[in-house]
Amino acid sequence: MTTTTTARNISLEEMDRQSVLHPFTNLKEYANGRAGDPRIVTGGEGIHIRDSKGNDLIDAFAGLYCVNIGYGRTEVADAIYAQAKDLAYYHSYAAHSTEALIRLSDRLVSMAPGEMSKVFYGLSGSDANETQVKLVWYYNNILGRPQKKKIISRERGYHGCSVVSGSLTGLSFYHNAFDLPVNPILHTGAPHYYWGAEPGEDERAFSARRARELEELILAEGPDTVGGFIAEPVLGTGGITPPPEGYWEAIQPILRKYDILLIADEVVTGFGRTGASFGCFKYGIEPDLITVAKGLTSAYVPMSASIIGRRVCDVLEQASDTLGAFSHGYTYSGHPLGAAAALAVLDIVEREDLPGNAERTGAYFQKRLHETFADHPLVGEVRGVGLMAALEFVADKDSKERLDPSLKVGARVSAAALANGLIARAMPHGDILGFSPPLVVTKDEVDEIVDRARRALDTVTDELVRERLWQAA
Ligand SMILES: Cc1ncc(COP(=O)(O)O)c(C=O)c1O
Repeated sequence: MTTTTTARNISLEEMDRQSVLHPFTNLKEYANGRAGDPRIVTGGEGIHIRDSKGNDLIDAFAGLYCVNIGYGRTEVADAIYAQAKDLAYYHSYAAHSTEALIRLSDRLVSMAPGEMSKVFYGLSGSDANETQVKLVWYYNNILGRPQKKKIISRERGYHGCSVVSGSLTGLSFYHNAFDLPVNPILHTGAPHYYWGAEPGEDERAFSARRARELEELILAEGPDTVGGFIAEPVLGTGGITPPPEGYWEAIQPILRKYDILLIADEVVTGFGRTGASFGCFKYGIEPDLITVAKGLTSAYVPMSASIIGRRVCDVLEQASDTLGAFSHGYTYSGHPLGAAAALAVLDIVEREDLPGNAERTGAYFQKRLHETFADHPLVGEVRGVGLMAALEFVADKDSKERLDPSLKVGARVSAAALANGLIARAMPHGDILGFSPPLVVTKDEVDEIVDRARRALDTVTDELVRERLWQAA
């Protein structure tokens, strides 16, 4: 008899260390054991997860801001099971379809902002953004504008990790030693008033300046060479930063003026996180293309989608006579298990009015964070919208002097939160603690999250003072 398991007398933890290459993990320290054991997650319910050592943790980041409906929703598991029993897989090439895929696509087109026409499916936010860029290129080739290919993204924007999506991402550590960004991807200034504003500039003036800078970049490159602009309605991984007042109002006319397609990356903001069903509704954004992933299935099954506006779709269809079939697709595009999961998740999102909860409980969360942290000497800014929020730590509140990066204050606070049974993410850029709990979170749970975060920050503040690494100005 053959067996596919290796009978090795080592712990699961050791087996992990020896065989898994973990994203965003110090490979050497992890492999040699200095970074400790992996956390082996075994279960979850609501906003809690459990691990193999019996710890129960509040996951105030919903995995990677994706488990919007919370853990352990058996209704979704049942829908996946039912679909798998009937038909676990069929592809969507050459006009093959499944009922779940048809119903999901119809639903997405009607619920999405802007005038959307069709949906193309992938498996991750990264590949969906890759598709969007290819669509911009294809569209402009069809229109006889082969030069109009550059895509402008923003510094500190996050759009994924693959070759083009990683290039769109405006954070240097995603590029270093990976030969990114590739051509023709450009970056313009981040919409972060706290760090970017000039003395005396109010939010609207700052937004107007960012729009002017965008226009200057377009003019310097040549408007007939710029095909697309991609942005998250709320900057996410780059620091959870809502746009300053007037930002989208100022940016969109520039894009229209130069006939540049707007790709709204709603991977985090889609399906309720900001308190509206899409971030575009919240900020009056009228996109040509929309990227969704994460909340689409609440991560119960990997699935992403590029939702394509009528303006673009009509052009794609025009090209069939000359180009033939649309030659882009993945084996798993429109996978029935993903579609079945998404339909069940969207039922929950609607039935439980999770965007409404994100708005109401989110307002309470933001208020509690402000009350608790705004006056703390290490906290430069408390910011957020709906159920996404961040605390940015600085050495000196008044002068906005940054902390010495080697102190790793963001990571320390996140570790101290963990010791208090709370997962809050040390954002990869700067000393920032991020929160993005499942959208089912209650006010009582918000209180618990804020209390645990406060204990964590107090512990780290005491440590820094005791070790003479920092003192209040
Ligand atoms: C706004 C945004 N776009 C794209 C992505 C990439 O998604 P994935 O990790 O599924 O490739 C992410 C992931 O965090 C994201 O936050």
